[in-house]
Amino acid sequence: MGNSQAGKTLFVAGGSSGINLGIARCFAREGANVALISRSPEKIAIAAAEIAEINGGRAIGIAADVRDYAAVEAALKATHDKFGDIDTVISGAAGNFVAPALGMSANGFKTVVDIDLIGTFNVLRASFAFLRKPGASLISITAGQATRASMFQAHVCAAKAGINMLTQCLALEWGPAGVRVNAISPGPIADTEGMARLATTPEAEARVKARVPMRRYGTKDEIGEAALFLSSDAARYINGAILPVDGGSGCGDGAGDALGNFGAASYS
Ligand code: NAP
Ligand code: COA
Repeated sequence: MGNSQAGKTLFVAGGSSGINLGIARCFAREGANVALISRSPEKIAIAAAEIAEINGGRAIGIAADVRDYAAVEAALKATHDKFGDIDTVISGAAGNFVAPALGMSANGFKTVVDIDLIGTFNVLRASFAFLRKPGASLISITAGQATRASMFQAHVCAAKAGINMLTQCLALEWGPAGVRVNAISPGPIADTEGMARLATTPEAEARVKARVPMRRYGTKDEIGEAALFLSSDAARYINGAILPVDGGSGCGDGAGDALGNFGAASYS
Protein backbone atom coordinates (compact mmCIF):
# COMPACT_ATOMS: atom_id res chain seq x y z
CA MET A 1 0.00 0.00 0.00
CA GLY A 2 1.18 3.50 -0.85
CA ASN A 3 -0.50 6.86 -0.61
CA SER A 4 0.51 8.64 -3.81
CA GLN A 5 -3.19 8.79 -4.82
CA ALA A 6 -4.60 9.71 -1.41
CA GLY A 7 -7.44 12.21 -1.80
CA LYS A 8 -7.51 11.71 -5.57
CA THR A 9 -10.26 10.23 -7.72
CA LEU A 10 -10.04 7.77 -10.62
CA PHE A 11 -12.85 7.13 -13.14
CA VAL A 12 -12.50 4.00 -15.31
CA ALA A 13 -14.67 3.29 -18.35
CA GLY A 14 -14.69 -0.44 -19.07
CA GLY A 15 -13.58 -1.11 -15.52
CA SER A 16 -15.31 -4.40 -14.74
CA SER A 17 -12.50 -6.68 -15.92
CA GLY A 18 -9.09 -7.17 -17.45
CA ILE A 19 -6.53 -4.42 -17.92
CA ASN A 20 -8.85 -1.62 -16.85
CA LEU A 21 -9.79 -3.32 -13.57
CA GLY A 22 -6.08 -3.99 -13.09
CA ILE A 23 -5.42 -0.25 -13.40
CA ALA A 24 -8.15 0.41 -10.82
CA ARG A 25 -6.49 -2.05 -8.42
CA CYS A 26 -3.16 -0.22 -8.74
CA PHE A 27 -4.77 3.18 -8.04
CA ALA A 28 -6.82 1.76 -5.12
CA ARG A 29 -3.64 0.35 -3.55
CA GLU A 30 -2.26 3.90 -3.72
CA GLY A 31 -5.30 5.28 -1.90
CA ALA A 32 -7.45 6.66 -4.75
CA ASN A 33 -11.24 6.91 -4.69
CA VAL A 34 -12.44 4.80 -7.63
CA ALA A 35 -15.51 4.87 -9.89
CA LEU A 36 -16.00 2.11 -12.46
CA ILE A 37 -18.46 1.84 -15.35
CA SER A 38 -19.31 -0.97 -17.77
CA ARG A 39 -22.42 -2.43 -19.39
CA SER A 40 -23.11 -5.34 -17.05
CA PRO A 41 -24.67 -4.37 -13.69
CA GLU A 42 -23.54 -7.70 -12.19
CA LYS A 43 -19.92 -7.47 -13.36
CA ILE A 44 -19.51 -3.84 -12.34
CA ALA A 45 -20.96 -4.47 -8.86
CA ILE A 46 -18.52 -7.34 -8.27
CA ALA A 47 -15.58 -5.24 -9.51
CA ALA A 48 -16.52 -2.26 -7.33
CA ALA A 49 -16.84 -4.53 -4.28
CA GLU A 50 -13.34 -5.88 -4.96
CA ILE A 51 -11.89 -2.37 -5.22
CA ALA A 52 -13.74 -1.27 -2.05
CA GLU A 53 -11.96 -4.10 -0.19
CA ILE A 54 -8.64 -2.58 -1.26
CA ASN A 55 -9.26 1.11 -0.58
CA GLY A 56 -11.50 1.01 2.48
CA GLY A 57 -14.89 1.36 0.81
CA ARG A 58 -14.27 4.34 -1.47
CA ALA A 59 -15.44 2.67 -4.70
CA ILE A 60 -18.60 2.86 -6.78
CA GLY A 61 -19.70 0.81 -9.78
CA ILE A 62 -22.27 2.13 -12.25
CA ALA A 63 -23.78 0.28 -15.21
CA ALA A 64 -23.38 2.49 -18.28
CA ASP A 65 -22.69 1.83 -21.96
CA VAL A 66 -20.02 4.15 -23.39
CA ARG A 67 -22.10 4.39 -26.59
CA ASP A 68 -24.77 6.24 -24.57
CA TYR A 69 -23.49 9.80 -23.97
CA ALA A 70 -26.20 10.67 -21.44
CA ALA A 71 -25.47 7.54 -19.39
CA VAL A 72 -21.73 8.28 -19.38
CA GLU A 73 -22.36 11.89 -18.35
CA ALA A 74 -24.68 10.78 -15.54
CA ALA A 75 -22.04 8.34 -14.24
CA LEU A 76 -19.40 11.08 -14.27
CA LYS A 77 -21.76 13.43 -12.42
CA ALA A 78 -22.51 10.75 -9.80
CA THR A 79 -18.76 10.26 -9.35
CA HIS A 80 -18.22 14.00 -8.97
CA ASP A 81 -21.13 14.31 -6.51
CA LYS A 82 -19.58 11.57 -4.35
CA PHE A 83 -15.84 12.23 -4.58
CA GLY A 84 -15.43 15.75 -6.01
CA ASP A 85 -13.17 16.73 -8.92
CA ILE A 86 -11.90 13.78 -10.96
CA ASP A 87 -8.10 13.53 -11.24
CA THR A 88 -7.65 10.62 -13.65
CA VAL A 89 -9.92 9.19 -16.35
CA ILE A 90 -9.19 5.87 -18.04
CA SER A 91 -11.07 5.27 -21.29
CA GLY A 92 -10.60 1.55 -21.89
CA ALA A 93 -13.95 0.07 -22.89
CA ALA A 94 -13.51 -1.98 -26.04
CA GLY A 95 -14.80 -4.84 -28.11
CA ASN A 96 -12.95 -7.20 -30.40
CA PHE A 97 -13.54 -10.28 -32.47
CA VAL A 98 -11.40 -11.88 -35.13
CA ALA A 99 -13.00 -11.64 -38.57
CA PRO A 100 -11.96 -10.82 -42.14
CA ALA A 101 -13.50 -7.64 -43.52
CA LEU A 102 -15.61 -9.74 -45.87
CA GLY A 103 -16.87 -11.78 -42.90
CA MET A 104 -17.97 -8.68 -41.03
CA SER A 105 -21.29 -6.90 -41.55
CA ALA A 106 -21.45 -3.12 -41.65
CA ASN A 107 -22.95 -3.33 -38.18
CA GLY A 108 -20.10 -5.54 -36.95
CA PHE A 109 -17.53 -2.93 -38.07
CA LYS A 110 -19.63 -0.08 -36.67
CA THR A 111 -20.12 -1.80 -33.32
CA VAL A 112 -16.40 -1.86 -32.57
CA VAL A 113 -15.87 1.70 -33.83
CA ASP A 114 -18.83 2.81 -31.71
CA ILE A 115 -17.51 1.22 -28.51
CA ASP A 116 -13.80 1.99 -28.91
CA LEU A 117 -13.63 5.32 -30.76
CA ILE A 118 -17.00 7.02 -30.29
CA GLY A 119 -17.09 5.64 -26.74
CA THR A 120 -13.71 7.22 -26.01
CA PHE A 121 -14.89 10.56 -27.40
CA ASN A 122 -18.01 10.31 -25.20
CA VAL A 123 -16.03 9.50 -22.05
CA LEU A 124 -13.37 12.18 -22.54
CA ARG A 125 -15.79 14.86 -23.81
CA ALA A 126 -18.28 14.30 -20.98
CA SER A 127 -15.53 14.17 -18.34
CA PHE A 128 -14.22 17.68 -18.99
CA ALA A 129 -16.83 19.44 -16.82
CA PHE A 130 -16.00 17.23 -13.85
CA LEU A 131 -12.18 17.30 -13.94
CA ARG A 132 -9.69 18.90 -11.61
CA LYS A 133 -8.42 21.84 -13.65
CA PRO A 134 -5.52 22.30 -13.73
CA GLY A 135 -4.10 18.89 -12.98
CA ALA A 136 -6.29 16.16 -14.48
CA SER A 137 -4.80 13.31 -16.50
CA LEU A 138 -6.87 11.56 -19.18
CA ILE A 139 -5.59 8.20 -20.45
CA SER A 140 -7.08 6.20 -23.30
CA ILE A 141 -6.20 2.56 -23.79
CA THR A 142 -5.18 2.06 -27.40
CA ALA A 143 -3.37 -0.90 -29.01
CA GLY A 144 -0.62 -1.76 -31.46
CA GLN A 145 -3.30 -2.24 -34.12
CA ALA A 146 -3.56 1.57 -34.26
CA THR A 147 -0.29 1.84 -36.14
CA ARG A 148 0.26 -1.68 -37.50
CA ALA A 149 -2.25 -3.12 -39.97
CA SER A 150 -3.34 -6.57 -38.87
CA MET A 151 -5.21 -9.36 -40.65
CA PHE A 152 -8.83 -9.81 -39.49
CA GLN A 153 -8.66 -6.67 -37.33
CA ALA A 154 -9.86 -3.94 -39.75
CA HIS A 155 -12.46 -2.69 -37.26
CA VAL A 156 -10.04 -2.55 -34.32
CA CYS A 157 -7.19 -1.05 -36.38
CA ALA A 158 -9.48 1.73 -37.64
CA ALA A 159 -10.99 2.40 -34.21
CA LYS A 160 -7.69 2.44 -32.30
CA ALA A 161 -6.01 4.63 -34.97
CA GLY A 162 -8.85 7.08 -34.38
CA ILE A 163 -8.21 6.98 -30.64
CA ASN A 164 -4.55 7.87 -31.16
CA MET A 165 -5.44 10.92 -33.23
CA LEU A 166 -8.26 11.93 -30.86
CA THR A 167 -5.75 11.76 -28.00
CA GLN A 168 -3.48 14.21 -29.74
CA CYS A 169 -6.29 16.57 -30.84
CA LEU A 170 -7.62 16.80 -27.28
CA ALA A 171 -4.07 17.27 -25.96
CA LEU A 172 -3.86 20.39 -28.15
CA GLU A 173 -7.26 21.74 -27.12
CA TRP A 174 -7.19 20.95 -23.39
CA GLY A 175 -3.51 21.46 -22.57
CA PRO A 176 -4.12 25.18 -21.95
CA ALA A 177 -6.64 24.23 -19.23
CA GLY A 178 -4.01 22.10 -17.50
CA VAL A 179 -5.59 18.84 -18.61
CA ARG A 180 -3.15 16.33 -20.05
CA VAL A 181 -4.43 13.79 -22.58
CA ASN A 182 -2.34 10.69 -23.27
CA ALA A 183 -2.80 7.06 -24.24
CA ILE A 184 -1.21 3.78 -23.23
CA SER A 185 -0.65 1.15 -25.91
CA PRO A 186 -0.34 -2.21 -24.13
CA GLY A 187 1.36 -5.17 -25.73
CA PRO A 188 -0.12 -8.64 -25.22
CA ILE A 189 -1.23 -8.82 -21.58
CA ALA A 190 -1.65 -12.07 -19.65
CA ASP A 191 -5.02 -13.31 -18.39
CA THR A 192 -7.17 -10.96 -20.43
CA GLU A 193 -10.22 -11.36 -22.63
CA GLY A 194 -8.33 -9.58 -25.41
CA MET A 195 -5.59 -12.22 -25.61
CA ALA A 196 -8.10 -15.03 -25.07
CA ARG A 197 -9.77 -13.86 -28.29
CA LEU A 198 -6.57 -13.19 -30.27
CA ALA A 199 -4.37 -16.17 -29.26
CA THR A 200 -6.70 -19.09 -28.81
CA THR A 201 -4.22 -22.00 -28.56
CA PRO A 202 -0.93 -22.58 -26.68
CA GLU A 203 0.83 -22.58 -30.08
CA ALA A 204 -0.62 -19.18 -30.97
CA GLU A 205 0.38 -17.86 -27.54
CA ALA A 206 3.95 -19.09 -28.09
CA ARG A 207 4.05 -17.36 -31.49
CA VAL A 208 2.90 -14.07 -29.95
CA LYS A 209 5.51 -14.30 -27.19
CA ALA A 210 8.23 -15.07 -29.75
CA ARG A 211 7.49 -11.74 -31.44
CA VAL A 212 7.85 -9.76 -28.20
CA PRO A 213 11.47 -8.72 -27.60
CA MET A 214 10.97 -9.39 -23.84
CA ARG A 215 9.67 -12.88 -24.82
CA ARG A 216 6.68 -12.82 -22.46
CA TYR A 217 3.22 -11.38 -22.00
CA GLY A 218 2.94 -8.23 -19.90
CA THR A 219 0.94 -8.03 -16.69
CA LYS A 220 -2.03 -5.89 -15.72
CA ASP A 221 0.10 -4.37 -12.94
CA GLU A 222 2.63 -3.23 -15.55
CA ILE A 223 -0.13 -1.27 -17.31
CA GLY A 224 -1.47 0.03 -13.98
CA GLU A 225 1.96 1.28 -12.98
CA ALA A 226 2.34 3.10 -16.30
CA ALA A 227 -1.05 4.76 -15.71
CA LEU A 228 0.06 5.78 -12.21
CA PHE A 229 3.16 7.36 -13.76
CA LEU A 230 1.14 9.26 -16.38
CA SER A 231 -1.11 10.57 -13.61
CA SER A 232 1.76 11.60 -11.37
CA ASP A 233 3.59 14.88 -11.08
CA ALA A 234 6.61 13.17 -12.66
CA ALA A 235 4.65 13.22 -15.96
CA ARG A 236 3.50 16.84 -15.65
CA TYR A 237 4.96 17.85 -19.05
CA ILE A 238 3.82 14.71 -20.90
CA ASN A 239 0.83 15.58 -23.07
CA GLY A 240 -0.36 14.01 -26.32
CA ALA A 241 1.88 10.96 -25.89
CA ILE A 242 1.02 7.45 -26.99
CA LEU A 243 3.05 5.41 -24.51
CA PRO A 244 3.82 1.83 -25.58
CA VAL A 245 3.96 -0.59 -22.63
CA ASP A 246 4.59 -3.61 -24.77
CA GLY A 247 8.00 -5.13 -24.09
CA GLY A 248 9.19 -3.60 -27.35
CA SER A 249 6.62 -5.34 -29.56
CA GLY A 250 5.84 -2.11 -31.38
CA CYS A 251 9.46 -1.60 -32.46
CA GLY A 252 9.28 -4.02 -35.35
CA ASP A 253 9.81 -7.66 -36.20
CA GLY A 254 10.83 -8.99 -32.77
CA ALA A 255 11.06 -12.61 -33.96
CA GLY A 256 13.21 -11.83 -36.99
CA ASP A 257 10.76 -13.81 -39.14
CA ALA A 258 11.48 -11.70 -42.19
CA LEU A 259 15.22 -12.50 -41.89
CA GLY A 260 15.10 -16.23 -41.29
CA ASN A 261 14.36 -15.93 -37.58
CA PHE A 262 17.74 -14.38 -36.67
CA GLY A 263 15.98 -12.25 -34.03
CA ALA A 264 14.92 -15.32 -32.05
CA ALA A 265 18.53 -16.18 -31.28
CA SER A 266 19.20 -16.12 -27.55
CA TYR A 267 21.96 -14.10 -25.96
CA SER A 268 23.50 -15.66 -22.88
P1 NAP B 1 -11.91 -6.87 -21.25
O1 NAP B 1 -11.61 -7.51 -19.93
O2 NAP B 1 -12.95 -7.50 -22.10
O3 NAP B 1 -12.22 -5.34 -21.00
C1 NAP B 1 -13.20 -4.63 -21.71
C2 NAP B 1 -14.06 -3.90 -20.72
O4 NAP B 1 -14.91 -3.00 -21.42
C3 NAP B 1 -14.95 -4.81 -19.89
O5 NAP B 1 -14.95 -4.32 -18.56
C4 NAP B 1 -16.35 -4.62 -20.50
O6 NAP B 1 -17.34 -4.82 -19.48
C5 NAP B 1 -16.24 -3.17 -20.96
N1 NAP B 1 -17.11 -2.82 -22.08
C6 NAP B 1 -17.24 -3.43 -23.29
N2 NAP B 1 -18.11 -2.79 -24.05
C7 NAP B 1 -18.56 -1.73 -23.32
C8 NAP B 1 -19.46 -0.67 -23.57
N3 NAP B 1 -20.11 -0.59 -24.74
N4 NAP B 1 -19.67 0.26 -22.60
C9 NAP B 1 -19.04 0.18 -21.41
N5 NAP B 1 -18.15 -0.80 -21.11
C10 NAP B 1 -17.91 -1.74 -22.07
O7 NAP B 1 -10.61 -6.82 -22.18
P2 NAP B 1 -9.05 -6.47 -21.99
O8 NAP B 1 -8.34 -7.44 -22.86
O9 NAP B 1 -8.65 -6.31 -20.58
O10 NAP B 1 -8.98 -5.04 -22.75
C11 NAP B 1 -9.01 -3.81 -22.05
C12 NAP B 1 -8.48 -2.69 -22.94
O11 NAP B 1 -7.11 -2.94 -23.24
C13 NAP B 1 -9.19 -2.55 -24.27
O12 NAP B 1 -9.26 -1.17 -24.60
C14 NAP B 1 -8.29 -3.27 -25.23
O13 NAP B 1 -8.44 -2.84 -26.56
C15 NAP B 1 -6.93 -2.88 -24.66
N6 NAP B 1 -5.83 -3.76 -25.04
C16 NAP B 1 -5.80 -5.04 -24.56
C17 NAP B 1 -4.70 -5.84 -24.85
C18 NAP B 1 -4.60 -7.25 -24.27
O14 NAP B 1 -3.55 -7.87 -24.36
N7 NAP B 1 -5.64 -7.75 -23.64
C19 NAP B 1 -3.65 -5.35 -25.63
C20 NAP B 1 -3.73 -4.05 -26.13
C21 NAP B 1 -4.82 -3.26 -25.81
P3 NAP B 1 -18.89 -5.17 -19.77
O15 NAP B 1 -18.89 -6.46 -20.54
O16 NAP B 1 -19.51 -5.26 -18.40
O17 NAP B 1 -19.42 -4.01 -20.54
N1 COA C 1 -17.52 -12.19 -36.45
C1 COA C 1 -18.22 -11.36 -37.24
N2 COA C 1 -19.18 -10.50 -36.79
C2 COA C 1 -19.41 -10.49 -35.47
C3 COA C 1 -18.71 -11.31 -34.56
C4 COA C 1 -17.73 -12.20 -35.09
N3 COA C 1 -17.01 -13.02 -34.32
N4 COA C 1 -19.17 -11.06 -33.31
C5 COA C 1 -20.11 -10.11 -33.42
N5 COA C 1 -20.26 -9.77 -34.71
C6 COA C 1 -21.22 -8.83 -35.27
C7 COA C 1 -22.65 -9.29 -35.03
O1 COA C 1 -23.04 -10.29 -35.97
C8 COA C 1 -23.42 -7.99 -35.18
O2 COA C 1 -23.62 -7.65 -36.52
P1 COA C 1 -25.07 -7.90 -37.26
O3 COA C 1 -26.09 -7.13 -36.47
O4 COA C 1 -24.88 -7.41 -38.64
O5 COA C 1 -25.30 -9.40 -37.18
C9 COA C 1 -22.45 -6.96 -34.60
O6 COA C 1 -21.16 -7.57 -34.59
C10 COA C 1 -22.82 -6.55 -33.19
O7 COA C 1 -22.92 -7.73 -32.39
P2 COA C 1 -23.66 -7.68 -30.97
O8 COA C 1 -23.45 -9.02 -30.34
O9 COA C 1 -25.06 -7.19 -31.13
O10 COA C 1 -22.85 -6.51 -30.25
P3 COA C 1 -22.69 -6.15 -28.72
O11 COA C 1 -22.71 -4.68 -28.67
O12 COA C 1 -23.65 -6.93 -27.87
O13 COA C 1 -21.22 -6.74 -28.36
C11 COA C 1 -19.00 -7.19 -29.26
C12 COA C 1 -20.05 -6.15 -28.86
C13 COA C 1 -19.48 -7.88 -30.55
C14 COA C 1 -17.72 -6.45 -29.55
C15 COA C 1 -18.81 -8.30 -28.19
O14 COA C 1 -17.81 -9.18 -28.61
C16 COA C 1 -18.42 -7.73 -26.82
O15 COA C 1 -19.30 -7.41 -26.02
N6 COA C 1 -17.09 -7.59 -26.51
C17 COA C 1 -16.62 -7.03 -25.22
C18 COA C 1 -15.45 -7.84 -24.67
C19 COA C 1 -14.25 -7.83 -25.57
O16 COA C 1 -14.37 -7.86 -26.78
N7 COA C 1 -13.07 -7.82 -24.95
C20 COA C 1 -11.82 -7.69 -25.63
C21 COA C 1 -11.43 -6.26 -25.65
S1 COA C 1 -9.96 -6.06 -26.62
